[in-house]
Amino acid sequence: MAGLIPRQFIDDLLARTNIVDVINGRVPLKKAGKNYQACCPFHTEKSPSFSVSPDKQFYHCFGCGEHGNAISFMMEFDRLDFVDAIEELASMQGMDVPKEENKQTPAQQKQYVQAQQQKQDDYKIMEQIAQFFQQQLKVADDKQTAIDYLKGRGLTGEIAKRFGMGYISDSWDGMMNTFAKNQMLSKQLVDLGMAIEGDKGRPYDRFRGRIMFPIRDKRGHVIGFGGRVLEDGTPKYLNSPETRIYHKGQELYGLYEAKQANKNLKRIVVVEGYMDVVALAQHGVDYAVASLGTSTTTEQIQTLFRTVNEVICCYDGDRAGREAAWRAMDNALPLMRDGISLKFVFVPDGEDPDSLIRQKGQAAFEQILDRAQPLSKFLFEQLMSQTDMNSLEGRAGLVDSFQPYINKLPDSILKDSIINELANNFGTGGEQLATKLARNINASTTSIQKNKTNKITPARLAIALLLSDPNLANSLSDINALSHVDLPGVSLLNNLLQLCKQNHNMNSAQLLEYYRDTEQGKQLAKILCWQHHVEPENAEDVFLDSIEKLFNTFVEQRTELLLQKARSGQMSAQEKHELQTLLNA
Ligand code: GTP
Ligand code: MN
Repeated sequence: MAGLIPRQFIDDLLARTNIVDVINGRVPLKKAGKNYQACCPFHTEKSPSFSVSPDKQFYHCFGCGEHGNAISFMMEFDRLDFVDAIEELASMQGMDVPKEENKQTPAQQKQYVQAQQQKQDDYKIMEQIAQFFQQQLKVADDKQTAIDYLKGRGLTGEIAKRFGMGYISDSWDGMMNTFAKNQMLSKQLVDLGMAIEGDKGRPYDRFRGRIMFPIRDKRGHVIGFGGRVLEDGTPKYLNSPETRIYHKGQELYGLYEAKQANKNLKRIVVVEGYMDVVALAQHGVDYAVASLGTSTTTEQIQTLFRTVNEVICCYDGDRAGREAAWRAMDNALPLMRDGISLKFVFVPDGEDPDSLIRQKGQAAFEQILDRAQPLSKFLFEQLMSQTDMNSLEGRAGLVDSFQPYINKLPDSILKDSIINELANNFGTGGEQLATKLARNINASTTSIQKNKTNKITPARLAIALLLSDPNLANSLSDINALSHVDLPGVSLLNNLLQLCKQNHNMNSAQLLEYYRDTEQGKQLAKILCWQHHVEPENAEDVFLDSIEKLFNTFVEQRTELLLQKARSGQMSAQEKHELQTLLNA
């Protein structure tokens, strides 16, 4: 989607937006020198280490390391995705977000418009089918069997309605008869997974003789279905296949309904089944979602953490449930910044959330949720259960087994506390272990501390100064001066220089936006957060000086290399010429 908003628009938007206003509207800021500060909204703290720079149009927390421009802030604070963050900022400026990329060819534009129309068409027919299934609970010949089934599972009509639950009798064309009015519609229904194309003859209904659960996306569009048999048939559940509008790894069953039921969602429970979601809602726990048949993916967890700060995975206590929880945890690790928590609860063997809440009721179930195990505890418990804690080797191995998981965690209080706990409880097994832990702890100190130990190289300094003031690019007489220089950091520096040259009067935030979601972007953000302590009036001199130093280092290294070649008599005519030029310079 990002590619669909013209780059020029994002530039303009960032130029018009004042990050201080955006943040101040959400987190009251106090002026502190040139900058503004507050207690960090992204982690808990008593004294303010969250700083906003009007010059750079950038925020940075010295405590937890969160940083970014106005778009990043909206994404993190309002939990929006990229496009929604842009929409929100644009509406603050009274700007309309253009929907198509300017650079698209007419053919691409046409294709894009057609795809959008197709999508709207798809949503429409899926919604109509969902309503048709609901209607069947009132009109089907065997509606009573379906109604009895739902009642038997303790559901009221009201809850069934909230989830748009429906029914389809057991026949080959109950749905197709109503919807496949022509060839095109018939094909659309096959594309959407609602019908199956046989070897010969007309496509037939995928879902037959089932209770139907519509799957909605976050905007409420019906994008797929799950269908459950009434009795003991197989498969027990049948789900929509992946289609152009349904990608199961990205969607969560019940999220739309949970958001509708709660203006202010605080936490979300992730369960395994459709029925669990609906049954929990029936008993007042109207904030449950289910991942759709796969293990909970990183994308799903990210969606959840954009909505709430606390996510509780509630799985079966058997091996399969624990494995599902482990996979969910593994997928969540890279997302575990400060301020959010992932917890785990296992229901007793033979039960599931549905049966549990029906027996015990809302209050007891929520008590169980309140006592959920935090991620770190789950991690320790699982890894320790696989370790022989009585032997020295076993204990040393435990530290090793943590390594891959610790590596996946971003710098955070959680990471530090896991390492500390490891060091305190298992750090007595000899010197080797202690060094290993020390290495871990060094690796996990916060970004600001890490920056202190980073060497100040001329490339780093030049980049830092250029980021703080992109107009410095204009002070160079030749923007391509370093184009042949092959030294660490210089290709990034060259890249930045070109950008600054092409776009006049950029601020830091705009410049950095070009690198969103790239490795370079991460490096640049770190450099931007780093304090270079060069006064603005000296910035130009220091900048030009750094460029010169880089150039000289390159000339020296290159000269040395060519001289070596000359000595060993391996020099081409071209290299001879180059050496001459270098020595004359
Ligand atoms: P009930 O028996 O209705 O209570 O189902 P449940 O929601 O408790 O489901 P269960 O714990 O058996 O399975 C959890 C989830 O796994 C379901 O909601 C489905 O998404 C999926 N699932 C279960 N059985 C099948 C199956 O036979 N095929 C497929 N594709 N998915 C299934
Ligand atoms: Mn069940």
